Amino acid sequence: MQKPETKSPPGPKNGISLTEAQEMQNDTLGFVMKAAAQYGDIMRYRIGFWDVYFLNHPDYIQHVLLDNWKNYGRQTFQFKKFALVTGDGLLNTHGERWQKHRRLMQPSFHQKKLGGMAEAMWSAVGRLGDRWDRLLVENGGTAEIEVDSHMLRLALEIVGQALFSLDLTAEADHLSQEMLEMMTYIVYRSQNLLALPAIVPTPRNNRFRRTLNKLNRRIQEMIAARRQAGEAVHDDLLDLLVFSQDATGQGLSDVEIRDEVMTLMIAGYETVASGMSWLWSLLAEHEDVQARLVAELREALGNGRPTYRQMSQLPILNGVIQEGFRLYPPSWLITRRSLAPDQIGGYDIPAGSLVVLCPYAIHRHPDFWPDGERFDIGRFLDGAEKAQHKYAYIPFGGGPHLCIGKPFAQLEAALTLGTLLPRFKLTHARPKPAVDPQVTIRPSDGLWMNLTRRD
Ligand code: HEM
Repeated sequence: MQKPETKSPPGPKNGISLTEAQEMQNDTLGFVMKAAAQYGDIMRYRIGFWDVYFLNHPDYIQHVLLDNWKNYGRQTFQFKKFALVTGDGLLNTHGERWQKHRRLMQPSFHQKKLGGMAEAMWSAVGRLGDRWDRLLVENGGTAEIEVDSHMLRLALEIVGQALFSLDLTAEADHLSQEMLEMMTYIVYRSQNLLALPAIVPTPRNNRFRRTLNKLNRRIQEMIAARRQAGEAVHDDLLDLLVFSQDATGQGLSDVEIRDEVMTLMIAGYETVASGMSWLWSLLAEHEDVQARLVAELREALGNGRPTYRQMSQLPILNGVIQEGFRLYPPSWLITRRSLAPDQIGGYDIPAGSLVVLCPYAIHRHPDFWPDGERFDIGRFLDGAEKAQHKYAYIPFGGGPHLCIGKPFAQLEAALTLGTLLPRFKLTHARPKPAVDPQVTIRPSDGLWMNLTRRD
């Protein structure tokens, strides 16, 4: 019998060359953009023993994330490394367990709950504003600060308080350090395919295990305290995880709860912080947009406290956040593994293939985002975004695995800018940092800015 003809997407014939491998390591995003320009919207790279399919067209992205999403699981290198820290949480799972846990947690991120969460966000942002005020008094009215670390601390305090009723004010600095250490370890393991397994007692692995054990103990204490209380009194996500039962009366185990708590801390922390850092940087670069935003905020809010409802009704604020997340999508890489053979754009995708989507690249696709490097909030004003292909803009992914924290993150960004921007001005103190694609896209060597009071 004649073998059916297979059609493979364009890409280098003989696999990735040594030069290309080095380029990919040194400037991953540059490499991806160059490859997309050379090979088009779908390409195949052979890296070592693996075929990697890179998709850079919204139709193809929609196919993987929505139309045929069940066929694209998360058994990828990226997620396996995450699992070292998060276990089998929502971010790493795909099948029945994922569905059960997603259904359980979804109501906690419902619009109705966000009003209450806004309180926690507002208090944490208020404390940051007070710290900035004190810094300015101590430094004679101007201070050079590393904005990214301030945003990381803020995001951690907010996740702790809003989801788990945890006041992390006193420990946020060292906890943030420990979380970052774990993220750095995940990146190290992802980039070093020959690194010894985590159980081998190398100094790096030992340090990782120590930090992970410490954080695990902290989460275990939280779970134990809730179980001891015997009933849900906080009305937060942790109560939901600890006291929920399925139809058979079965609740989640401590390990399952730990995995979800760790997942939410990890997924909801560095992402928001890096998104916020780039927003500050963009506003500093675009004084005209900043002035329009300050005017909008002052007119709408006066000196009052911004509310949850007001936040969604401010077009410039919304435009700045959406356009900022387009240019600097914190989660710059989404990976999947095909479970059964499939076809995309007329090309064959064999079972077991690694499929890679890059929000950073699709957000600059010239057919969908003309002059893509330009910061232009008009792309998101007066409903302009409605004309856009939905899967040309994927800072929060899409389909059933769409980021569960999307409304939470958007509100957090809005409240942070809405509260701090009318009071403080940040300008670049050093040249604008390059983009460093770690777990999220971070400012390399930090984001150093001069802080002053606006008035
Ligand atoms: C600007 C901030 C954020 C960005 C850019 C972001 C981005 C993303 C993306 C792209 C995905 C999809 C991953 C995939 O399909 O493989 C995702 C999933 C997820 N995100 Fe976020 N996220 C942000 C904030 C948050 C927050 C605040 C939380 C929780 C408090 C959170 C929790 C999650 C979880 C649990 C998932 C897995 C969802 C599932 O598969 O069901 N994220 N996020």
